[in-house]
Amino acid sequence: MKPVRASAPGKIILFGEHAVVYGQPALAVPVTQVQAEAWVQPHPSPPSPASRPFPPLSAGEGEGEWGTGGEIWIDAQDLRRRYRLDAARPNDPLAAAVRLVLDRCGGPQAPRAFTVAVRSTIPIASGLGSGAAVSTAIVRALSAFLGQPLTDAEVSAIVFETERWLHGTPSGIDNTVIAYARPVYFVKGRPPEPFSVAAPFRLLIADTGLPSPTRITVGDVRAGWQREPERYNALFEQVGQLARTARGLIEAGQAGALGPLMIQNHDLLRALGVSCQALDALVEAAQSAGALGAKLSGGGRGGNMLALVTDETAAGVEAALLRAGAKRVLGTIVGAEDR
Ligand code: PMV
Repeated sequence: MKPVRASAPGKIILFGEHAVVYGQPALAVPVTQVQAEAWVQPHPSPPSPASRPFPPLSAGEGEGEWGTGGEIWIDAQDLRRRYRLDAARPNDPLAAAVRLVLDRCGGPQAPRAFTVAVRSTIPIASGLGSGAAVSTAIVRALSAFLGQPLTDAEVSAIVFETERWLHGTPSGIDNTVIAYARPVYFVKGRPPEPFSVAAPFRLLIADTGLPSPTRITVGDVRAGWQREPERYNALFEQVGQLARTARGLIEAGQAGALGPLMIQNHDLLRALGVSCQALDALVEAAQSAGALGAKLSGGGRGGNMLALVTDETAAGVEAALLRAGAKRVLGTIVGAEDR
């Protein structure tokens, strides 16, 4: 049994968040500048410090001795925690991912003595898909370790189960774009449609620094929809139409024309009640500094927003976002990997 490593990118939703929960299409793309990594390492011989996948925890930080053999361990580097699978908290999503893969790929002969180490550079609770990416990396690494590497669709389905632990009723867009690691046109309950980016385009992703659990905004939108179904359904329809048009423009190499659609999508998200002052201020600042368009991305009321920029405007828009209160700005080129 050899150690196995796997990684998964972050993601960002370009168009269609929230409406996607109600059957409308959404577009999402991987963000490869940030990554989650998982490493599965067999026991029983305790690995030497030099062979450990990531820097060791200092003494006393673990909840037990490293790699004593005959057990399954989770080493959550970013949380500075390591623990045995059977001692994991009941709602631990890392343990859920490990258990789901064992159920699927672990026959009677499967090894039951290994460590799953995880680390990630994806900011948490900010709309970049950190939970789904960590689960994807675990599912890929562990299924390969067990000798049964899974397809993208199988990985996505297992990660969807772990997302349900966190979000309640996720549409499935996060696990899909992250497991396929390609731009996807996503309609809930249908096979995802990876699509191509005819000409790469540049985005800035700015973080408000306000953590905002998606579960809460999704619940609030549901309450609004139950109160005023006709109004909400009309808003969802308009969002869906923007996603369809946007896909066509991206496939035709006309991403520069997405700007006004992003502004319209942001206004529709405001009407759904999921924007906030901090997001509106960043959208406004990006536009004033010359961005072609801007919108919130993901669950809203915090987390990230997106700005569509050119090579010429990128630096000025980034500076304006930081002045307007962004805690961090990431740049990404959508479609660069397809070249
Ligand atoms: O907050 P994020 O980036 O995980 O995105 C949530 C997207 C929603 O449409 C609001 C919810 C969902 O499950 O699709």
